[in-house]
Amino acid sequence: MLGTDVVAAAAAGHEVVALARADLDIADAESVRAAVRDVRPDAVINCAAWTDVDGAEASEPQATVVNGDGAGHVAAAAAEVDAHVVHVSTDYVFGGDATAPYREDAPTGPIGAYGRSKLAGERAVAAASPSSHAIVRTAWVFGPHGKNFVDTMLRLGAERDELTVVDDQLGCPTYTGHLAAALVRIAQDRAHGVLHVAGGGSCTWWELASETFARAGLNVTVHRGSTADLGRPAPRPAYSVLGSTRSDAPVLPAWQDGLADHLIAREVLA
Ligand SMILES: NC(=O)c1ccc[n+]([C@@H]2O[C@H](COP(=O)([O-])OP(=O)(O)OC[C@H]3O[C@@H](n4cnc5c(N)ncnc54)[C@H](OP(=O)(O)O)[C@@H]3O)[C@@H](O)[C@H]2O)c1
Repeated sequence: MLGTDVVAAAAAGHEVVALARADLDIADAESVRAAVRDVRPDAVINCAAWTDVDGAEASEPQATVVNGDGAGHVAAAAAEVDAHVVHVSTDYVFGGDATAPYREDAPTGPIGAYGRSKLAGERAVAAASPSSHAIVRTAWVFGPHGKNFVDTMLRLGAERDELTVVDDQLGCPTYTGHLAAALVRIAQDRAHGVLHVAGGGSCTWWELASETFARAGLNVTVHRGSTADLGRPAPRPAYSVLGSTRSDAPVLPAWQDGLADHLIAREVLA
């Protein structure tokens, strides 16, 4: 989902080599080294990950091979050719029990397997490329090229006139088009260290669903539900709002603007 938009954003001003999973398995250290050595890029932006949050609970070692070890292989390969590595991470590295936005230096403490595997990746990236990495934590990503919450709501909203959506998680919905441009800028500037980059403002999934239906002109009654009622295998952080103390962290448009741009990209809005 994110990778497709990153390729488009980067291609506007750079020569881009885009590798999908079928082209390169990031868990295979030697293949990653060979692929990066072949191209000798100025920067590597890694959007590949095990993103099945619920599935990671039962398969944490497999998730960690990709999100932990694989992230490290990409960073090590980049470091070998002096390329800056931009690694995408997540709000799930935090415990979700804060009451004010998480800044870059907030203590991590993932509550699930996916978050632990992504935190392992952050550490692997920093260790493999200590002087030239950006670890970009983002959250609640949606965009036109992958499975995401907004599109699920559009599909369900077309089928039903009533829905229940969780209202006890707070986060920053982030549009891939906005995030992709920010990642390219971070790569160009060689910004170093941890950066928090997510859609401006914050809301619950209930608010995001309601706003989606309102903007798409779908007449759906949205009931407020709770995370516990969903009974998903993986725990979800209740509070996932990301803030930044860094003046060089790109500031993204408000999540409502991201939603509007997504609906335009999906041709729901003109
Ligand atoms: N979606 C969110 O809400 C969210 C929030 C915060 C952070 N993030 C992070 O954002 C990044 C992009 O995620 P996304 O939302 O774009 O998810 P996505 O659509 O699932 O993209 C992840 C991609 O990685 C590929 N992949 C999986 N294992 C791989 C491997 N071993 N080698 C090479 N490629 C592999 C997947 O291929 P297959 O499709 O074939 O499995 C998929 O194309 C990830 O780092 C994710 O952790 C996402």
